[in-house]
Amino acid sequence: MTETRIIDASDPASQKKVVKEAVDLLSAGEVVALPTETVYGLGADALNADAVAKVFAAKERPGFDPLIVHVGSYEQVDEVAEVPDNLREVVNKLMKAFWPGPLTLVLPKKDCVPDIVTSGLPTVAVRMSGHPIMKAVVRGLGNPIAAPSANRFGRISPTSASAVEKELGGRILAIVDGGACREGLESTIVRPEAGEKKPILHLLRAGPVTKELLQRFGKVERPKKSRSNEAPEAPGQLASHYAPTTPLRLLKSPDEFNPEEGRKYALLSYCGSEKAGFIDAHDWEIVEELSPGNGKLAEAAVRLFFVLRKLDESGVDEIIAEPVSETGLGVAIMDRLRRASVR
Ligand code: TXA
Ligand code: MG
Repeated sequence: MTETRIIDASDPASQKKVVKEAVDLLSAGEVVALPTETVYGLGADALNADAVAKVFAAKERPGFDPLIVHVGSYEQVDEVAEVPDNLREVVNKLMKAFWPGPLTLVLPKKDCVPDIVTSGLPTVAVRMSGHPIMKAVVRGLGNPIAAPSANRFGRISPTSASAVEKELGGRILAIVDGGACREGLESTIVRPEAGEKKPILHLLRAGPVTKELLQRFGKVERPKKSRSNEAPEAPGQLASHYAPTTPLRLLKSPDEFNPEEGRKYALLSYCGSEKAGFIDAHDWEIVEELSPGNGKLAEAAVRLFFVLRKLDESGVDEIIAEPVSETGLGVAIMDRLRRASVR
């Protein structure tokens, strides 16, 4: 068992010191949990295969699930990816529009990226985080940082340092505490392809950069649904994911709910409104709202993993989730809820 140190980054005056500590650990081939605007990541030097292996070990992540590589500049993209001439324009436009920020681009990879990072795929997923700590650490290291979400494989992504500690405490040397994540959902993943008339943007994972926002840059296509747990285009996007240890059921309407005698149920409500009919459908053990009071999808996205974790720890037998409208950010929220409900 390793002692996990929490490095507090809340005081701006100590930021330089914090960044140096993280950079020193990464340079020495260690892994460090770092805040990003989406969720916390477990970072390693992306060009050091032994360091990246430690990420897989700490997370108990299967080798077929590739990592996202975080860059600190546009130039660094060209160090790890071979951007084809016919994609250069759309890639530049996407980077300009959404970076730094919650968009990941899947591009042909360069040889310097170890196979362990990409699970042997010929492509690499890259993004530039807008979180000041992550940005400063990538720049300080000089190499890109491979960082998956800092949770054990298949479990709820962490949106705070304390959530990382619950997931990986005792397994890693340090967690940089940069406060709560602003977005709360993992980045949108897009694989751009040159289309006949305009670029095709294959949406491999829904996230904070919505389909509506991407449409300006090309034809957005969802990959064909894979029904089983095998070979989806984004390999880590298995049907079952983001799962609390407590079973979760996502219902379409309250009529589908038939409580069993003696079983304790929690309700994951969208905004606590009685209109949807869920609140009054049962004498719930506990009710948590994603967007208390006003029903804003952005607020629901930020709170989703936090609230899921809270309900998971509440000791109920089952979590019943109310659907949210599947537009804008609601697509990513429903995606996570569906995956959380598959066992
Ligand atoms: O917001 C985020 O993206 C966070 C923060 C830490 O940056 N990271 C994150 O990483 O969510 P992770 O490992 O939980 O999810 C990365 C997913 C993989 O599971 C896989 O689906 C996809 O990215 N991916 C990575 N490399 C890929 C590739 N070469 N081709 C297709 N999909 C890839
Ligand atoms: Mg993850």
